[in-house]
Amino acid sequence: MTKIADQKLSGSGERNFRWAKAHMGTLTTLAEKYAKSRPLEGLKLGVCLHVTKETSVLIDALLLAGADVKLAGANPLSTQDDIAAYLSTRTDVWAWRGQSAKEYGWCIGEVLGTHPEQLIDDGADLHVAAHVARARGIAGGSEETTTGVMRLKALEAQGKLRYPVIAVNDARTKFMFDNRYGTGQSTFDGIMRATALLLAGVKVVVVGYGWVGKGVAMRARGLGARVTVVEVDPVKALEAHLDGFEVSSIEEAANEGVLFVTATGQKNVIPYEAVERMKEGAILVNAGHFDVEIDVKTLMKKAKKVKEVRPNVDEIALPSGRRVYLLAKGRIANLVAAEGHPPEVMQMSFANQMMAAIRIHSEHDEMEKKVYGVPRDLEDEVARAALKSMGVAIGSPTQEQKLYARSWKL
Ligand code: NAI
Repeated sequence: MTKIADQKLSGSGERNFRWAKAHMGTLTTLAEKYAKSRPLEGLKLGVCLHVTKETSVLIDALLLAGADVKLAGANPLSTQDDIAAYLSTRTDVWAWRGQSAKEYGWCIGEVLGTHPEQLIDDGADLHVAAHVARARGIAGGSEETTTGVMRLKALEAQGKLRYPVIAVNDARTKFMFDNRYGTGQSTFDGIMRATALLLAGVKVVVVGYGWVGKGVAMRARGLGARVTVVEVDPVKALEAHLDGFEVSSIEEAANEGVLFVTATGQKNVIPYEAVERMKEGAILVNAGHFDVEIDVKTLMKKAKKVKEVRPNVDEIALPSGRRVYLLAKGRIANLVAAEGHPPEVMQMSFANQMMAAIRIHSEHDEMEKKVYGVPRDLEDEVARAALKSMGVAIGSPTQEQKLYARSWKL
């Protein structure tokens, strides 16, 4: 059933799985606990996630908890082929790097074709495919990222959501760390691997100052770049200003920037007209989920010539005679040009996923067809376990303090 790039890569995949596992104590502690009680025994679980070494640790945990997992990648370009090969020794996998849009959709269809009872998704392509196919027998699911949650909330608002979903992205132990510190670091990992250029002194324009944008801007500053933030939300723009960044419009920033990073979940936040105004050699990078944030379609239509000059770097000659460089074809650059988030960050996101899967499995009968947040007690459990894995100890409030906090009266 499996379709992957090369089975011979499984040895390398297993080594990377073990490396990630050794740095994901929060998740592995849960995995050990649930390997004994097996709360997902026999559950048919359809999964659509970026096939990375960190994801392999989650898949391992789900298998140990008893689930029958079927896996597809969450992006045509993000699969780590050695990990896909290793995971295919343990379950069915449909994922390889460098898929066409058609092949990508086919892989998701294969997962749906196994009649899963529950789904785990990143970006909601699997959830959307399940809705389009009016798939039966799905009791619920979870969603990993901001863009996926946005799509599912839209379905809920239209009364079209067919089962309960837990928005793992909305856990504080997910978005405050994965979106900010994970994407902040791994986006620059991708930029540096792809371009090998100096960032100190360079004008970086970050489009979007949500959780991802904050992480990207913070790390750009840490590398010595001069950072401008582009926002449309006045509160976020104010926050960026008081955080000490230049704040501007895309029209203005287009003239100044050298490296542009999008992080909005919105389409065409760098429109073609802005690209036309950029300096010779400007570099365009997307850190958002879909390849819609930079208007790549128009850019490709208008381009005089497109040439791959390094892996993951396309040189685009504009009608003006200037050249710009597009990383990872405008797709999620930290996963295409690097390895995605570090394992210490993903241990929290995936501990939330693990617990969401168990909660949906045990409680879906009592849940409505809604998008649910992650309960605070689960978030706290994940944060405590993550602190422990990082060797950080904290105290707890005394009885006197607890009483003080709730005893105020008129
Ligand atoms: P968020 O909702 O916290 O922030 C998005 C920000 O973009 C908001 O402040 C919004 O006002 C701003 N924005 C919207 N339209 C804009 C425009 N036209 N110009 C300038 N700013 C605009 O979302 P978050 O969590 O930061 O996620 C952003 C994207 O990154 C999503 O697609 C999400 O799925 C993705 N993501 C990517 C990750 C990765 O590994 N690369 C990890 C986590 C999330």
